[in-house]
Amino acid sequence: MSELETLERTLLADIDAAGDEGSIEAVRIGALGKKGSISELLKTLGTMTPEERQTRGAQINALKTTVADAITARKSALKDLAIAERLARETVDISLPVRSSPAERGRIHPISQIVDEITAIFGDMGFSIAEGPDIETDYYNFTALNFPEGHPAREMHDTFFFNEDDKGERKVLRTHTSPVQIRTMEAQDPPIRIIIPGKTYRQDSDATHSPMFHQVEGLVVDKSANVANMRWVLEEFCKAFFEVDKVTMRFRPSFFPFTEPSFEVDIQCDRSGPIVKFGEGTDWMEILGCGMVHPNVLRSGGLDPDEYQGFAWGMGLDRIAMLKYGMPDLRDFFNADVRWMNHYGFRPLDMPTLFGGLSA
Ligand code: DAH
Repeated sequence: MSELETLERTLLADIDAAGDEGSIEAVRIGALGKKGSISELLKTLGTMTPEERQTRGAQINALKTTVADAITARKSALKDLAIAERLARETVDISLPVRSSPAERGRIHPISQIVDEITAIFGDMGFSIAEGPDIETDYYNFTALNFPEGHPAREMHDTFFFNEDDKGERKVLRTHTSPVQIRTMEAQDPPIRIIIPGKTYRQDSDATHSPMFHQVEGLVVDKSANVANMRWVLEEFCKAFFEVDKVTMRFRPSFFPFTEPSFEVDIQCDRSGPIVKFGEGTDWMEILGCGMVHPNVLRSGGLDPDEYQGFAWGMGLDRIAMLKYGMPDLRDFFNADVRWMNHYGFRPLDMPTLFGGLSA
């Protein structure tokens, strides 16, 4: 094989082996650059005899053309390859579902949902929200609510007591949301129309009781509030909350120190199926306690019972949430299990409203 043929083979092999634009450029400089192997050969043309130039000269020129063409072809092939690779790398699978944003993936706890629903209903009736501390004095939790010292009704509450402080006072974890009634009466003049959602505490724990639970309290005080008003408010609430057109409620006489008269309220329902249905059936389920605010409680709040009267109610939220959303065990509410939350939780962007639907 002639020396030119060997050179051609080597160069073509190098061109073939060049994997990117950098290495093909290196091959080009090595062959056709100023001091490249082919350029050096071309320089010898001037020293040749006319005969040599015709044969060997033509061979060198042919070699130059072959190698230059091969380099151009390889360069353009490498460019196409680079584009194809980039397209493959940047491929977007448009058939994949869009991943939802964190705000859409999070879930609202059923208790927060219930509070939002109740707030939407009473907000629509012109009520506002009041809040108070979880750690209460004995005075607000009991005495001001007409539980005299040593009264047996205090025992019913299975209270969590704190140790005595320097003043000899034992604070409590509030056993109900009712103390906020007193705090509100002290802070604002009638007419008062508030609901008080919040955490409450009693020493109790099983499938339907937890030592920390939730209540919503309601309080209306003005110069003419009466049992008929109370009944209407509670019926409207139950219809809206259970999302039914009609409810039948039963007001049973009961006793609470802070109301007179006092009632426990049952709602008619059908418990024959797997979930409780409201507004139909022949069963009754107790859902709240209520009554006309006791004159002593109005006095504790700084109001004259000869001028003002009011009604109030208190309701356990956890049980109502279990009923409405068919959750069998209350303890799961507080286990912080994301699987439970994904199943029973609510979508954060679906705010409950009366016009848009509460739990839709
Ligand atoms: N505080 C009561 C409880 O925890 C519930 C209650 C009953 C609240 C009647 C009221 C009421 O405001 O009028 O058992």
